Amino acid sequence: MMKKYIIAIDGTAASGKGTLARNLAQILGFSYLDTGKLYRYIGYALLRDGENPDEEAAAIRVAKTIQIDLHPEDLQNPALGCDGVGQAASKVAAISGVRTILLEYQRNFARNPPDAAKGVVLDGRDIGTVVCPEADFKLYIDAYIGIRAQRRYKELQSKGISLTYDTVLADMQERDRRDSQRTASPMKPAEDAILLDTGAMSIDDVLEKALLLIKGRLGINPGQ
Ligand code: C5P
Repeated sequence: MMKKYIIAIDGTAASGKGTLARNLAQILGFSYLDTGKLYRYIGYALLRDGENPDEEAAAIRVAKTIQIDLHPEDLQNPALGCDGVGQAASKVAAISGVRTILLEYQRNFARNPPDAAKGVVLDGRDIGTVVCPEADFKLYIDAYIGIRAQRRYKELQSKGISLTYDTVLADMQERDRRDSQRTASPMKPAEDAILLDTGAMSIDDVLEKALLLIKGRLGINPGQ
């Protein structure tokens, strides 16, 4: 069997990891999983049904439905992208029972990528540390929080969502704090991850840098 490459992209909210991971997967012809969407899916379902995202039993019940029948289009729902759902996601993500259930889903994706792709890119908070510690290439992306909040604020504005910059910043601080301080798989770089600060970089700069690093480490080029 041909070796399947695993690329792990972790980092803080709005650091640019999702955009990078998607671009890498497309260029390299790998399958892509945005693992944040799994937590967002649970947070969204709980809010929609008037339940509390801190409530362990309810969160675990929804997590189990992911295991049984999650359709790829379920993760395409634009409502998953909003800030309220991001906060709910980070609450359910602190529940260790939820993480254990999602771990299996993520590992299965990494080992058996759809479409028999020759590799996978996963982005999240604990891919390099917990989900795929054996990943062939690990990147941890961050940027100064003021810059990340500014990026997120502009993105929301372009979608016609009116939140103040201060609200976006406060939400992001709270989410980073919860994600890095929880006991279950906290957000942190793996010991063997390459750290990248994207504060002064454009989307294209980040992609170019990552492709160079991947080529150096794995010896693979786009299109190969
Ligand atoms: O990446 P995104 O901002 O969509 O993730 C939403 C939330 O899901 C994060 O704030 C984090 O709490 C949680 N998450 C996680 N582990 C992952 C991916 C996301 O805990 N691998």
